[in-house]
Amino acid sequence: MHSVDTVAAPVWDPRQYLHHTPHRTRPFLDLLQRIPRLPDGDRPARIADLGCGPGNVTALLADRWPDAHITGFDLSPEMLEQAEKDWSGTTSGGGWLDFRPADAAHWTPTEPYDLIVSNAALQWVPNHPESFAAWTGGLRPGGTLAFQVPGNFTSPSHALLGELCARPEWRARLGDQGRRFVHILEPADYLARLTALGCETDVWETVYCQLLQGEDAVLDWVKGTALRPVLTTLADDPAATEAFLAAYRDLLREAYPPGPHGTVFPFRRVFAVARTPS
Ligand SMILES: C[S@@+](CC[C@H](N)C(=O)[O-])C[C@H]1O[C@@H](n2cnc3c(N)ncnc32)[C@H](O)[C@@H]1O
Repeated sequence: MHSVDTVAAPVWDPRQYLHHTPHRTRPFLDLLQRIPRLPDGDRPARIADLGCGPGNVTALLADRWPDAHITGFDLSPEMLEQAEKDWSGTTSGGGWLDFRPADAAHWTPTEPYDLIVSNAALQWVPNHPESFAAWTGGLRPGGTLAFQVPGNFTSPSHALLGELCARPEWRARLGDQGRRFVHILEPADYLARLTALGCETDVWETVYCQLLQGEDAVLDWVKGTALRPVLTTLADDPAATEAFLAAYRDLLREAYPPGPHGTVFPFRRVFAVARTPS
């Protein structure tokens, strides 16, 4: 079986990922609402977004803090290229938005930040809680670490993916590729760790009852995220890709039958906002 450490990083497809932008953006907006006033009267100089993806949510940071220098960091060249193209440059208040390659597993602040944020990315980063001390330690007094991670890895969409990869016909090629992104803690564990670092911490979870449109909408959703490692591994074998997608599609159709108004795809997400003492 493959292990996370010995296989190539998944190749991301920004266009596929952006198919469901409103549903994917909403948790970020909910996170943003709970971020308290930042240092200097809520006029932060420096903001980092870890796992920024195609940059559309990074750009929302510039809407709230238009004169900040905001940097999105990501591991995927495809995502960074899209983010650069769509969003880099000066912002409405004279701030600056740029994007840099970085592995969040090893990223540590090299200058003081007012806000370090991450949306729907840390689930891909094993041991990310081990970085909390370095991240909060790199914040200015009164600065904030805020993140959101999916918490739905036991839901049918993700459980079925793991089970399919483990079937005899796929196991040798796919191994644990269906579970590459399962690196989250339960909310109470995030709360305990961040509080132990001296932060004033707010942790919560929400289940979004998402109504998706289109045929095989759940498959289309996971093609942008959880399926990336499988699609990357099978990229040089179109017949195998088609066979895998057909089998997975059939399982998803049974688990998420379309209704009269669309396909209901419940999605649990976990949020944490940790503010360092002023
Ligand atoms: C589901 S997307 C989220 C993108 C964006 N934050 C958003 O909310 O739209 C996950 C992103 O995490 C990035 N990622 C995964 N592992 C990473 C790592 N170790 N370091 C940096 N970025 C990573 C992926 O390349 C991808 O762009």
